[in-house]
Amino acid sequence: MTSFNSVPERRNSINLSKWTWYPKDVLPLWLADMDFPAAPQILAALHRQVAHGVLGYEMPSPAFYETIASRMMGLYGWNVDPESIVYTAGVNNGYNVAARILCSPSRGYLIQTPVYNEFLETGEKLHVSQFVAPLVKKVKGNRISFEVDYDAFRKKVRKAGMFLLCHPHNPVGHIFSRAELKKMAEICIENKVIIVSDEIHSEILLGGARFTPFASLSREIAKYTITLISASKAFNVPGLSCAFAIIPDPTLRKRFFDVTYGMSYEVSTPGLTAAQVAYSGKADTWLRQMLRYLTSNRDFLVDYVTQYMPNIRTTIPDATYLCWLDFSQAGIEGSPFEFFKEKAKVALSDGRLFGKGGEGHLRINFGTSRKLLTEGLERMRKALDSI
Ligand SMILES: Cc1ncc(COP(=O)(O)O)c(C=O)c1O
Repeated sequence: MTSFNSVPERRNSINLSKWTWYPKDVLPLWLADMDFPAAPQILAALHRQVAHGVLGYEMPSPAFYETIASRMMGLYGWNVDPESIVYTAGVNNGYNVAARILCSPSRGYLIQTPVYNEFLETGEKLHVSQFVAPLVKKVKGNRISFEVDYDAFRKKVRKAGMFLLCHPHNPVGHIFSRAELKKMAEICIENKVIIVSDEIHSEILLGGARFTPFASLSREIAKYTITLISASKAFNVPGLSCAFAIIPDPTLRKRFFDVTYGMSYEVSTPGLTAAQVAYSGKADTWLRQMLRYLTSNRDFLVDYVTQYMPNIRTTIPDATYLCWLDFSQAGIEGSPFEFFKEKAKVALSDGRLFGKGGEGHLRINFGTSRKLLTEGLERMRKALDSI
Protein backbone atom coordinates (compact mmCIF):
# COMPACT_ATOMS: atom_id res chain seq x y z
CA MET A 1 0.00 0.00 0.00
CA THR A 2 1.43 3.36 -1.03
CA SER A 3 1.92 5.93 1.70
CA PHE A 4 0.91 9.35 0.47
CA ASN A 5 1.97 10.91 3.76
CA SER A 6 5.59 11.36 2.77
CA VAL A 7 6.53 12.93 -0.53
CA PRO A 8 9.97 13.05 -2.19
CA GLU A 9 12.15 16.15 -2.09
CA ARG A 10 11.57 18.04 -5.35
CA ARG A 11 13.81 21.07 -4.96
CA ASN A 12 16.98 19.43 -6.23
CA SER A 13 16.38 20.05 -9.92
CA ILE A 14 18.18 22.53 -12.12
CA ASN A 15 15.08 22.87 -14.27
CA LEU A 16 12.14 25.09 -13.40
CA SER A 17 9.17 23.32 -11.87
CA LYS A 18 6.55 23.73 -9.17
CA TRP A 19 9.28 23.44 -6.51
CA THR A 20 12.04 25.58 -8.07
CA TRP A 21 10.05 28.46 -9.57
CA TYR A 22 9.86 30.44 -6.31
CA PRO A 23 12.62 31.03 -3.71
CA LYS A 24 13.46 28.15 -1.37
CA ASP A 25 11.58 29.55 1.63
CA VAL A 26 8.29 29.63 -0.33
CA LEU A 27 6.06 26.56 -0.07
CA PRO A 28 4.64 25.83 -3.54
CA LEU A 29 0.95 24.92 -3.62
CA TRP A 30 0.32 26.21 -7.13
CA LEU A 31 1.10 24.37 -10.41
CA ALA A 32 -1.21 21.43 -11.26
CA ASP A 33 0.94 18.42 -10.59
CA MET A 34 0.92 16.32 -7.43
CA ASP A 35 3.86 15.73 -5.12
CA PHE A 36 3.28 11.95 -5.03
CA PRO A 37 5.39 9.55 -7.07
CA ALA A 38 3.46 7.98 -9.95
CA ALA A 39 1.82 4.58 -9.45
CA PRO A 40 4.42 1.80 -8.81
CA GLN A 41 3.11 -0.17 -11.82
CA ILE A 42 3.85 2.81 -14.08
CA LEU A 43 7.28 3.35 -12.55
CA ALA A 44 8.11 -0.37 -13.00
CA ALA A 45 7.16 -0.23 -16.69
CA LEU A 46 9.30 2.87 -17.18
CA HIS A 47 12.23 1.19 -15.38
CA ARG A 48 11.91 -1.81 -17.70
CA GLN A 49 11.93 0.49 -20.71
CA VAL A 50 15.06 2.32 -19.54
CA ALA A 51 16.77 -0.99 -18.64
CA HIS A 52 16.14 -2.17 -22.18
CA GLY A 53 18.06 0.85 -23.30
CA VAL A 54 16.43 1.73 -26.60
CA LEU A 55 14.08 4.70 -26.46
CA GLY A 56 13.02 4.78 -30.08
CA TYR A 57 9.86 6.03 -31.73
CA GLU A 58 6.63 4.29 -30.87
CA MET A 59 3.09 4.81 -32.08
CA PRO A 60 -0.04 3.70 -30.24
CA SER A 61 -1.11 0.32 -31.66
CA PRO A 62 -4.70 -0.53 -32.68
CA ALA A 63 -4.75 -2.87 -29.65
CA PHE A 64 -3.95 0.06 -27.38
CA TYR A 65 -6.77 2.14 -28.84
CA GLU A 66 -9.03 -0.80 -28.02
CA THR A 67 -7.74 -0.66 -24.45
CA ILE A 68 -8.70 3.01 -24.23
CA ALA A 69 -12.15 2.29 -25.67
CA SER A 70 -12.64 -0.53 -23.13
CA ARG A 71 -11.74 1.81 -20.29
CA MET A 72 -14.33 4.35 -21.46
CA MET A 73 -16.92 1.56 -21.59
CA GLY A 74 -15.91 0.23 -18.16
CA LEU A 75 -15.86 3.62 -16.45
CA TYR A 76 -18.88 5.28 -18.04
CA GLY A 77 -20.67 2.78 -20.28
CA TRP A 78 -19.53 5.01 -23.14
CA ASN A 79 -19.23 3.24 -26.47
CA VAL A 80 -16.10 4.62 -28.17
CA ASP A 81 -14.99 3.34 -31.56
CA PRO A 82 -11.21 2.67 -31.24
CA GLU A 83 -10.81 4.14 -34.73
CA SER A 84 -12.12 7.48 -33.51
CA ILE A 85 -9.07 7.93 -31.21
CA VAL A 86 -6.00 9.87 -32.28
CA TYR A 87 -2.94 10.79 -30.26
CA THR A 88 -1.80 14.27 -29.44
CA ALA A 89 1.31 15.43 -27.60
CA GLY A 90 -0.74 16.80 -24.71
CA VAL A 91 -4.16 18.20 -23.95
CA ASN A 92 -3.00 21.78 -24.47
CA ASN A 93 -1.65 20.68 -27.80
CA GLY A 94 -5.03 19.06 -28.56
CA TYR A 95 -7.28 22.06 -27.98
CA ASN A 96 -4.85 24.37 -29.75
CA VAL A 97 -4.89 22.04 -32.76
CA ALA A 98 -8.70 22.14 -32.59
CA ALA A 99 -8.63 25.94 -32.49
CA ARG A 100 -6.42 25.95 -35.58
CA ILE A 101 -8.97 24.00 -37.57
CA LEU A 102 -12.17 25.46 -36.11
CA CYS A 103 -11.44 29.12 -35.45
CA SER A 104 -10.35 32.19 -37.36
CA PRO A 105 -10.00 35.89 -36.51
CA SER A 106 -13.75 36.27 -37.05
CA ARG A 107 -14.92 32.89 -35.74
CA GLY A 108 -13.45 32.59 -32.29
CA TYR A 109 -13.82 30.28 -29.31
CA LEU A 110 -15.98 30.40 -26.23
CA ILE A 111 -14.76 29.83 -22.66
CA GLN A 112 -16.33 29.98 -19.22
CA THR A 113 -14.23 31.94 -16.75
CA PRO A 114 -12.73 31.66 -14.26
CA VAL A 115 -11.02 28.86 -16.16
CA TYR A 116 -7.68 27.07 -16.59
CA ASN A 117 -5.32 29.92 -17.42
CA GLU A 118 -3.90 28.36 -20.59
CA PHE A 119 -7.37 28.47 -22.20
CA LEU A 120 -7.04 32.24 -22.16
CA GLU A 121 -3.75 32.18 -24.05
CA THR A 122 -5.13 30.44 -27.15
CA GLY A 123 -6.82 33.57 -28.53
CA GLU A 124 -3.74 35.72 -28.49
CA LYS A 125 -1.30 33.00 -29.52
CA LEU A 126 -3.39 31.81 -32.50
CA HIS A 127 -4.87 35.22 -33.39
CA VAL A 128 -8.45 34.07 -32.94
CA SER A 129 -11.14 35.94 -31.05
CA GLN A 130 -12.12 34.87 -27.59
CA PHE A 131 -15.66 35.02 -26.23
CA VAL A 132 -16.40 34.67 -22.56
CA ALA A 133 -19.58 33.51 -20.86
CA PRO A 134 -18.48 33.71 -17.20
CA LEU A 135 -19.78 31.11 -14.79
CA VAL A 136 -22.13 32.52 -12.15
CA LYS A 137 -20.81 32.39 -8.61
CA LYS A 138 -23.32 31.37 -5.93
CA VAL A 139 -22.50 32.15 -2.31
CA LYS A 140 -23.98 30.26 0.62
CA GLY A 141 -22.31 31.03 3.95
CA ASN A 142 -18.65 30.46 3.32
CA ARG A 143 -19.20 28.05 0.45
CA ILE A 144 -19.10 29.04 -3.19
CA SER A 145 -20.30 27.10 -6.19
CA PHE A 146 -20.65 27.86 -9.89
CA GLU A 147 -23.41 27.61 -12.49
CA VAL A 148 -23.71 28.12 -16.22
CA ASP A 149 -25.26 31.40 -17.37
CA TYR A 150 -27.24 30.06 -20.34
CA ASP A 151 -28.30 33.49 -21.59
CA ALA A 152 -24.70 34.65 -21.80
CA PHE A 153 -23.70 31.29 -23.25
CA ARG A 154 -26.34 31.50 -26.00
CA LYS A 155 -25.38 35.07 -26.82
CA LYS A 156 -21.63 34.48 -26.93
CA VAL A 157 -21.56 31.13 -28.72
CA ARG A 158 -23.05 32.53 -31.95
CA LYS A 159 -19.80 33.83 -33.35
CA ALA A 160 -17.73 30.91 -32.12
CA GLY A 161 -16.28 28.02 -34.09
CA MET A 162 -15.51 26.08 -30.92
CA PHE A 163 -16.69 25.91 -27.35
CA LEU A 164 -13.76 24.97 -25.13
CA LEU A 165 -15.19 23.28 -22.07
CA CYS A 166 -13.24 22.31 -18.97
CA HIS A 167 -14.99 19.24 -17.54
CA PRO A 168 -14.35 18.64 -14.67
CA HIS A 169 -13.69 22.30 -14.27
CA ASN A 170 -10.31 23.69 -13.29
CA PRO A 171 -10.19 25.74 -11.03
CA VAL A 172 -13.66 25.39 -9.48
CA GLY A 173 -13.75 21.57 -9.33
CA HIS A 174 -17.28 21.35 -10.74
CA ILE A 175 -18.43 18.25 -12.61
CA PHE A 176 -21.13 19.40 -15.02
CA SER A 177 -24.36 17.42 -14.62
CA ARG A 178 -26.03 15.59 -17.50
CA ALA A 179 -28.69 18.32 -17.60
CA GLU A 180 -26.08 21.08 -17.82
CA LEU A 181 -24.14 19.25 -20.51
CA LYS A 182 -27.28 18.57 -22.52
CA LYS A 183 -28.38 22.18 -22.45
CA MET A 184 -24.95 23.44 -23.51
CA ALA A 185 -24.82 20.79 -26.25
CA GLU A 186 -28.23 21.82 -27.62
CA ILE A 187 -27.16 25.45 -27.86
CA CYS A 188 -23.88 24.51 -29.55
CA ILE A 189 -25.56 22.21 -32.07
CA GLU A 190 -28.21 24.86 -32.90
CA ASN A 191 -25.32 27.18 -33.72
CA LYS A 192 -23.17 24.52 -35.42
CA VAL A 193 -20.39 25.00 -32.90
CA ILE A 194 -17.97 22.14 -32.13
CA ILE A 195 -17.48 21.33 -28.47
CA VAL A 196 -13.92 20.62 -27.38
CA SER A 197 -14.26 18.96 -24.01
CA ASP A 198 -11.06 18.96 -21.98
CA GLU A 199 -11.57 15.95 -19.70
CA ILE A 200 -8.03 15.71 -18.39
CA HIS A 201 -9.20 15.69 -14.75
CA SER A 202 -12.03 13.19 -15.31
CA GLU A 203 -10.47 10.36 -13.32
CA ILE A 204 -9.76 12.51 -10.27
CA LEU A 205 -13.15 12.07 -8.65
CA LEU A 206 -13.48 12.85 -4.95
CA GLY A 207 -15.72 11.25 -2.36
CA GLY A 208 -17.32 8.88 -4.86
CA ALA A 209 -18.41 11.64 -7.30
CA ARG A 210 -19.59 10.43 -10.72
CA PHE A 211 -18.53 11.79 -14.10
CA THR A 212 -20.32 11.84 -17.45
CA PRO A 213 -18.20 12.41 -20.57
CA PHE A 214 -19.79 15.13 -22.71
CA ALA A 215 -19.80 13.02 -25.86
CA SER A 216 -21.42 10.04 -24.13
CA LEU A 217 -24.78 11.84 -23.98
CA SER A 218 -25.88 10.94 -27.51
CA ARG A 219 -24.55 10.01 -30.94
CA GLU A 220 -25.49 13.42 -32.29
CA ILE A 221 -23.62 15.21 -29.51
CA ALA A 222 -20.63 12.92 -30.05
CA LYS A 223 -20.50 13.97 -33.72
CA TYR A 224 -20.07 17.56 -32.59
CA THR A 225 -17.47 16.79 -29.95
CA ILE A 226 -13.72 16.43 -29.64
CA THR A 227 -12.96 14.86 -26.26
CA LEU A 228 -9.46 15.27 -24.88
CA ILE A 229 -8.24 12.76 -22.32
CA SER A 230 -4.92 11.88 -20.73
CA ALA A 231 -3.66 9.65 -17.96
CA SER A 232 -1.35 12.47 -16.95
CA LYS A 233 -3.31 14.09 -14.11
CA ALA A 234 -4.87 11.14 -12.29
CA PHE A 235 -1.74 8.99 -12.52
CA ASN A 236 0.58 11.97 -11.99
CA VAL A 237 2.74 11.73 -15.10
CA PRO A 238 2.06 15.18 -16.62
CA GLY A 239 5.67 15.69 -17.69
CA LEU A 240 5.47 12.77 -20.13
CA SER A 241 3.40 14.59 -22.79
CA CYS A 242 0.91 12.08 -24.07
CA ALA A 243 -2.81 12.56 -24.62
CA PHE A 244 -5.64 11.35 -26.84
CA ALA A 245 -8.49 12.96 -28.74
CA ILE A 246 -11.71 11.05 -29.32
CA ILE A 247 -13.32 12.36 -32.50
CA PRO A 248 -16.24 10.29 -33.83
CA ASP A 249 -16.83 12.48 -36.92
CA PRO A 250 -14.38 11.20 -39.60
CA THR A 251 -14.01 14.52 -41.44
CA LEU A 252 -13.29 16.41 -38.28
CA ARG A 253 -10.91 13.65 -37.19
CA LYS A 254 -8.93 13.83 -40.41
CA ARG A 255 -8.64 17.60 -40.20
CA PHE A 256 -7.48 17.30 -36.59
CA PHE A 257 -5.00 14.53 -37.31
CA ASP A 258 -3.48 16.30 -40.31
CA VAL A 259 -2.54 19.27 -38.12
CA THR A 260 -1.41 17.17 -35.14
CA TYR A 261 0.75 15.02 -37.37
CA GLY A 262 2.30 18.10 -38.93
CA MET A 263 3.27 19.47 -35.52
CA SER A 264 4.43 16.37 -33.63
CA TYR A 265 4.09 13.15 -35.50
CA GLU A 266 4.62 10.97 -32.45
CA VAL A 267 4.02 11.07 -28.70
CA SER A 268 6.75 10.54 -26.14
CA THR A 269 7.64 6.87 -25.73
CA PRO A 270 7.63 6.98 -21.89
CA GLY A 271 4.30 8.86 -22.04
CA LEU A 272 2.85 6.08 -24.13
CA THR A 273 4.18 3.42 -21.75
CA ALA A 274 2.61 5.20 -18.76
CA ALA A 275 -0.71 5.59 -20.60
CA GLN A 276 -0.72 1.88 -21.51
CA VAL A 277 -0.34 0.87 -17.86
CA ALA A 278 -2.92 3.42 -16.69
CA TYR A 279 -5.61 2.63 -19.27
CA SER A 280 -5.16 -1.12 -18.90
CA GLY A 281 -6.31 -0.76 -15.28
CA LYS A 282 -3.09 -2.15 -13.78
CA ALA A 283 -2.69 0.89 -11.52
CA ASP A 284 -6.34 1.20 -10.46
CA THR A 285 -5.75 0.03 -6.90
CA TRP A 286 -3.17 2.78 -6.50
CA LEU A 287 -5.62 5.25 -8.07
CA ARG A 288 -8.36 4.33 -5.59
CA GLN A 289 -5.98 4.75 -2.64
CA MET A 290 -4.75 8.05 -4.01
CA LEU A 291 -8.31 9.33 -4.47
CA ARG A 292 -9.14 8.42 -0.86
CA TYR A 293 -6.11 10.40 0.26
CA LEU A 294 -7.04 13.38 -1.92
CA THR A 295 -10.62 13.29 -0.65
CA SER A 296 -9.41 13.41 2.95
CA ASN A 297 -7.05 16.28 2.05
CA ARG A 298 -9.97 18.16 0.47
CA ASP A 299 -12.13 17.67 3.56
CA PHE A 300 -9.28 18.67 5.86
CA LEU A 301 -8.64 21.81 3.79
CA VAL A 302 -12.28 22.89 3.73
CA ASP A 303 -12.69 22.22 7.48
CA TYR A 304 -9.48 24.08 8.27
CA VAL A 305 -10.49 27.15 6.28
CA THR A 306 -14.00 27.10 7.80
CA GLN A 307 -12.63 26.86 11.33
CA TYR A 308 -9.60 29.15 11.19
CA MET A 309 -10.18 31.54 8.30
CA PRO A 310 -13.79 32.59 8.81
CA ASN A 311 -13.82 35.30 6.15
CA ILE A 312 -12.59 33.03 3.39
CA ARG A 313 -15.00 31.19 1.13
CA THR A 314 -14.20 27.90 -0.57
CA THR A 315 -15.55 25.58 -3.18
CA ILE A 316 -15.97 21.93 -2.24
CA PRO A 317 -14.46 20.41 -5.38
CA ASP A 318 -16.02 17.16 -6.62
CA ALA A 319 -13.02 16.55 -8.84
CA THR A 320 -9.37 17.65 -9.30
CA TYR A 321 -6.86 18.32 -6.52
CA LEU A 322 -7.54 22.03 -6.76
CA CYS A 323 -9.66 24.22 -4.51
CA TRP A 324 -10.82 27.72 -5.40
CA LEU A 325 -10.63 30.17 -2.51
CA ASP A 326 -12.42 33.52 -2.35
CA PHE A 327 -10.48 36.19 -0.44
CA SER A 328 -12.68 39.11 -1.48
CA GLN A 329 -13.97 39.53 2.10
CA ALA A 330 -10.62 38.90 3.82
CA GLY A 331 -9.56 42.52 4.21
CA ILE A 332 -6.32 41.99 2.29
CA GLU A 333 -5.03 45.17 0.71
CA GLY A 334 -3.85 44.59 -2.85
CA SER A 335 -3.27 41.21 -4.41
CA PRO A 336 -3.99 38.13 -2.21
CA PHE A 337 -1.41 36.23 -4.28
CA GLU A 338 1.37 38.70 -3.36
CA PHE A 339 0.11 38.90 0.22
CA PHE A 340 0.51 35.15 0.83
CA LYS A 341 3.74 34.89 -1.12
CA GLU A 342 5.33 37.71 0.89
CA LYS A 343 3.70 37.35 4.31
CA ALA A 344 3.08 33.59 4.50
CA LYS A 345 5.78 32.35 2.11
CA VAL A 346 3.20 30.22 0.33
CA ALA A 347 2.77 30.33 -3.45
CA LEU A 348 -0.78 29.69 -4.64
CA SER A 349 -2.08 30.31 -8.17
CA ASP A 350 -3.17 33.90 -8.70
CA GLY A 351 -6.90 34.02 -9.48
CA ARG A 352 -6.40 36.85 -11.96
CA LEU A 353 -4.70 34.41 -14.33
CA PHE A 354 -7.99 32.53 -14.69
CA GLY A 355 -9.82 35.41 -16.36
CA LYS A 356 -12.95 37.34 -15.48
CA GLY A 357 -14.22 36.39 -12.03
CA GLY A 358 -10.76 35.41 -10.82
CA GLU A 359 -9.97 38.71 -9.08
CA GLY A 360 -9.73 38.31 -5.29
CA HIS A 361 -9.44 34.52 -5.60
CA LEU A 362 -6.61 32.00 -5.37
CA ARG A 363 -6.30 28.37 -6.39
CA ILE A 364 -4.67 25.97 -3.96
CA ASN A 365 -3.26 22.58 -4.96
CA PHE A 366 -3.91 19.97 -2.27
CA GLY A 367 -2.22 17.12 -4.18
CA THR A 368 0.52 16.87 -1.60
CA SER A 369 1.19 15.30 1.81
CA ARG A 370 -1.10 16.27 4.67
CA LYS A 371 1.97 17.60 6.47
CA LEU A 372 2.83 20.10 3.73
CA LEU A 373 -0.79 21.06 3.23
CA THR A 374 -1.14 21.72 6.97
CA GLU A 375 2.06 23.74 6.99
CA GLY A 376 0.80 25.88 4.10
CA LEU A 377 -2.56 26.47 5.75
CA GLU A 378 -0.96 27.35 9.08
CA ARG A 379 1.34 29.85 7.41
CA MET A 380 -1.68 31.38 5.65
CA ARG A 381 -3.71 31.53 8.85
CA LYS A 382 -0.89 33.34 10.68
CA ALA A 383 -0.56 35.85 7.86
CA LEU A 384 -4.30 36.54 7.94
CA ASP A 385 -4.25 36.86 11.75
CA SER A 386 -1.59 39.55 11.41
CA ILE A 387 -3.86 41.88 9.42
C1 LIG B 1 -7.76 21.63 -17.61
C2 LIG B 1 -6.36 21.34 -18.06
N1 LIG B 1 -6.13 21.08 -19.35
C3 LIG B 1 -4.88 20.81 -19.81
C4 LIG B 1 -3.80 20.84 -18.96
C5 LIG B 1 -2.43 20.55 -19.51
O1 LIG B 1 -2.44 19.35 -20.19
P1 LIG B 1 -1.15 18.78 -20.96
O2 LIG B 1 -0.04 18.80 -19.95
O3 LIG B 1 -1.55 17.43 -21.38
O4 LIG B 1 -0.91 19.69 -22.09
C6 LIG B 1 -4.00 21.13 -17.61
C7 LIG B 1 -2.86 21.21 -16.69
O5 LIG B 1 -2.95 21.72 -15.60
C8 LIG B 1 -5.31 21.37 -17.14
O6 LIG B 1 -5.57 21.61 -15.85
